[in-house]
Amino acid sequence: MAEIIDGKKISQDIKDEVKDKVATLKEDGIEVTLAVILVGNDPASGVYVSNKKKACEYTGIKSLSYEMPENTSEEELLSLIDDLNRDNTVDGILVQLPLPKQINEDRVIRRISPDKDVDGFHPESVGRLSIGERGFVSCTPAGIIELLKRSDVEIDGKECVVIGRSNIVGKPMGMLLLRESGTVTICHSHTRDLKEVTKRADILVVAIGKPKMIDASYIKEGATVIDVGIHRLEGKKLCGDCDYDSCAGVAGKITPVPGGVGPMTIAMLMVNTYQASLMHHGRI
Ligand code: GUN
Repeated sequence: MAEIIDGKKISQDIKDEVKDKVATLKEDGIEVTLAVILVGNDPASGVYVSNKKKACEYTGIKSLSYEMPENTSEEELLSLIDDLNRDNTVDGILVQLPLPKQINEDRVIRRISPDKDVDGFHPESVGRLSIGERGFVSCTPAGIIELLKRSDVEIDGKECVVIGRSNIVGKPMGMLLLRESGTVTICHSHTRDLKEVTKRADILVVAIGKPKMIDASYIKEGATVIDVGIHRLEGKKLCGDCDYDSCAGVAGKITPVPGGVGPMTIAMLMVNTYQASLMHHGRI
């Protein structure tokens, strides 16, 4: 049976590290501050935002909360972002996605100052990642790199296969694995013979968005399997994009759902916000 990669424990370690560093900055009179913007009433987004604010409280990061109604106009949201961009006491700005349909997400993402883009979604952040410059990296793929490193999974020279090509997970995941000197393949819905590709993977990152799609037949014996999906089945049980019981019989290491990748996203948001503060105060 595969060894479990415990995202809950690793994310807790990371939050504790951030907590210590934030406290040290506080001794120098610097308060790390994250502005969190939620527009509308999407229940899942409400839960994510509340968890992000709780993590801020835990780590000692000050969170400023902006809750705007469902019918907020794009102009109103952009105007708030402009104010927060100018506000010298704000280190990071997070706009929870998805946004109501009258608001263009791309314009919103581009309006956040790249210096405060703790989600790593701005084209400048994405560009920096692709040319190997320091910048903010999307929290979920950054968290997966931490999971691998802290579980002693070597990336250098390994066959790394990512299933999914989203801007938030698949593409930055590929870039990060490449930065760590993995040999990277990104698969998607048009990939011919998916199994033939995934069976080569030493590290398989699954971000498809379909419950339990990947089973043992896709996995090489001893591979590390990272499951990014999260779905609520009838009967309320959570599952990922992988059939856990089947995959765990073949994999060497595997992330569970829940308790794998999920908690890492918020931990890395705390890391990015701390980094934003260091940059803002000229400390890196
Ligand atoms: N919606 C789903 N995932 C994310 C995320 O990582 N950041 C933001 N801002 N919104 C999201």
